[in-house]
Amino acid sequence: MGIVIIRQDGKIDLWKEALKLHAPQIPVYGYLEDHPKEAIKMALVWKQPEGSLAGYPNLECIASSGAGVDFLFEDPQLPTHIPITRVVDEYLAKDMSEHVMALIFAQLKNLYHYKVDQGNGVWKPIPYKRIVDMTIGIMGLGALGTVLANDLVHFGFTVQGWSGSYKNIKGVKAFTGSQEQAEFLRSTQILVCLLPLTPATTGILNSALFEQLPKGAHIINVARGGHLVDGDLLQMLDNGHLSSACLDVYHQEPLPTDHPFWKHPKVHMTPHYASVSDTNSVVPQIVENYRRLMSGEVLLHRVSETKKY
Ligand code: GLV
Repeated sequence: MGIVIIRQDGKIDLWKEALKLHAPQIPVYGYLEDHPKEAIKMALVWKQPEGSLAGYPNLECIASSGAGVDFLFEDPQLPTHIPITRVVDEYLAKDMSEHVMALIFAQLKNLYHYKVDQGNGVWKPIPYKRIVDMTIGIMGLGALGTVLANDLVHFGFTVQGWSGSYKNIKGVKAFTGSQEQAEFLRSTQILVCLLPLTPATTGILNSALFEQLPKGAHIINVARGGHLVDGDLLQMLDNGHLSSACLDVYHQEPLPTDHPFWKHPKVHMTPHYASVSDTNSVVPQIVENYRRLMSGEVLLHRVSETKKY
C-alpha cells in the first residue's frame, strides 16, 4: 500500500511533507528513491517523465496534482483503464480568478502602456475604460471559469461564457457549440481561455477565431499553450486586429529565449504561475481519495474517460 509522487520540478519533498502531515499512516515515496513498486496503489503526478507510470503492476489511481490532466495523455505508456483524478480546489480557482482580474484591470487602466511610456520618459494621458463598458468572454466554464465568471459579475462586468455544454451561472450569458461561437465572439472585448486541453480544443485560438472578435480585442490565455496557434496570434497583433495578449502558458515551458513572444510589445507574459496547487489545501482531497480507493468507494473529481477532462 502506498503513494508514489512523480514530478520533475523539485517539489517532491514538499508534497511528501504535506502528505505525511495529513496522513502519517500512508507510506509515501518519491519516484526516484528505492520503493516497493508492487505496493503502490496511487500515483500523485505532475508532468511525469514518459514511461514512469508504467512500472507499477498494482496501480489503481493516477491523481493529477493540478487542475489539468492533459500532460498525462501525452505519455504513450500511460496505463489505460486506471481511474484518473484531478484537483478541484477553492484556492486554485480563486488564485486564477484574481490573476485574470488583475490582467483585465491592467487593460482597463492602460497600465502596460504607461509602463512603456515611463521607460521612454513620456507623459501622455490616454482615455481609460470603465467596467460598465466591458464585455468579458470566457471560454471554458468549469471549476476555474465559473469562479472567474462569478467574480467578474460581482464587479459589474458584462460576462458571457462559451463551454462544452450550457452552464447556468447567474448573470452570465451562456453559449455552446460551434453554431453559437460566432455570436459569443462578436461581442467579446476581452477573451479569456480557460478550456481544458483536449484534441477538440487544441489550436482553438487561431486566426479564424480571432477574426470573429471585434477589432481591438484582448486575449488572455491561462489554460494551456496548446490552445494557441502562436503564429496566428502574432499576425493578428501585428496587423492591429488584436490589441494585446496576456499569456501564462506556452507550447514549450520555459519558453525558449528566441521565441518572438519575449520581445513583442503587445504580448505580456507570466511564467505559468497564474494559479498553482497549494499542497496544504490540496492534500486532504488526495488523502480522501486514497481512503476511498482502499475502501472501494467512488473517487472525487474523476476525469471522464471519453472527454479526457
Ligand atoms: C495548472 O496548470 C494546473 O493544471 O493546475
